Amino acid sequence: MRPKPFALERYMSRYEFRAEISLSSSDCESVSQQELVSWADDEARRLWDGLSLGYTESPGVPLLRAEIAAMYAGLTADDVLEVVPSEGILVAMSCMLGPGDHVIVAFPSYQSLYGIAESIGCDVTRWRPDEARGWRFDPAALRAAVTPRTRLIVVNFPHNPTGYLPSPADFDEIVAIARAAGAYLFSDEMYRFLELEPADRLPSACEVYEKAVTLSGLSKSFGLPGLRVGWLATRDAELQRAFAEFKDFTTICGSAPSEILALIGLRNRERLIGRNLDIVERNIATAETFFAERGGLLAWNRPRAGSIGLARLRWPSGALDFCERLMADEGVMLLPSSVFDFGDEHVRLGLGRSNFADGLARLAGWLDRRSG
Ligand SMILES: Cc1ncc(COP(=O)(O)O)c(C=O)c1O
Repeated sequence: MRPKPFALERYMSRYEFRAEISLSSSDCESVSQQELVSWADDEARRLWDGLSLGYTESPGVPLLRAEIAAMYAGLTADDVLEVVPSEGILVAMSCMLGPGDHVIVAFPSYQSLYGIAESIGCDVTRWRPDEARGWRFDPAALRAAVTPRTRLIVVNFPHNPTGYLPSPADFDEIVAIARAAGAYLFSDEMYRFLELEPADRLPSACEVYEKAVTLSGLSKSFGLPGLRVGWLATRDAELQRAFAEFKDFTTICGSAPSEILALIGLRNRERLIGRNLDIVERNIATAETFFAERGGLLAWNRPRAGSIGLARLRWPSGALDFCERLMADEGVMLLPSSVFDFGDEHVRLGLGRSNFADGLARLAGWLDRRSG
């Protein structure tokens, strides 16, 4: 099993750390280790100061797993396995799938959500949204795609790259379709908690369906991707055991410093998320002003949640050409939709960084110089 190269990660690895400004990164603004530690309560501070840099407990330090479980109604620490987020996708897919299984994936998507299934030899159906209807993923199309061989449905709401979030009724229907099919539901919730209207937050899939697996972590909404801490949460004890056994072949256990920093981050989640949501809201307003001033160059369905959005680009030679020229001339990174295997007419905007307005100003200057 060897997945095809990860187009988005290869593109990012070429440009992300060379760019002066990224207009497309999906994570929110980070804080320094020093600032994060200054927020520690007495217990976490003691753990941090006395931390020994040995191996850690394979499923994750119990205090951290308890903190994570407390965010999900009806789950306990035993229902949670600490993983690196992208590792969690590999672990879960490897345990749930075999050659010939049918998998339905909300698409476009983060590549590993379908690429690992493809590399296992699964038959993957791409469930596509309707751009003209606000990127809606229509549950009727999902229902129509289900076959007796459907073993897994993969969703990612809030959605990367569109920022789409289904209504509660649509989400209920998606869960009902999975249940009726007897299929697992893998729900990538890396962008949860960043709903622009907090009342729009959906329940986590693992709370509402016993065969659901939730993937979440600190990389996106919390702005702590450098910790490499995430988790798989499910009430299916047999699956959770299989995940733990598989993890022995990937990372074995988490990083000791990251676990304590993650505990501090989670205990201060309102502060982290509140700050990041403010940044996203500000950047959406800035983006919309830019779109209005640039007469149709870019247009979007405004994201409903998360730290990213997908904008349609009107540029004769396509999005990839636009992005590569912008990077070469100006050191500003934008992601073309071609890295999502989703045509060449869109770009992804990352809305969680505090220098987003500076990036758009650089883009505006570049456009003006080209036309002037
Ligand atoms: C939808 C989604 N899932 C999972 C991941 C993986 O997260 P990490 O990079 O922290 O492993 C990403 C990262 O971009 C993502 O966008």
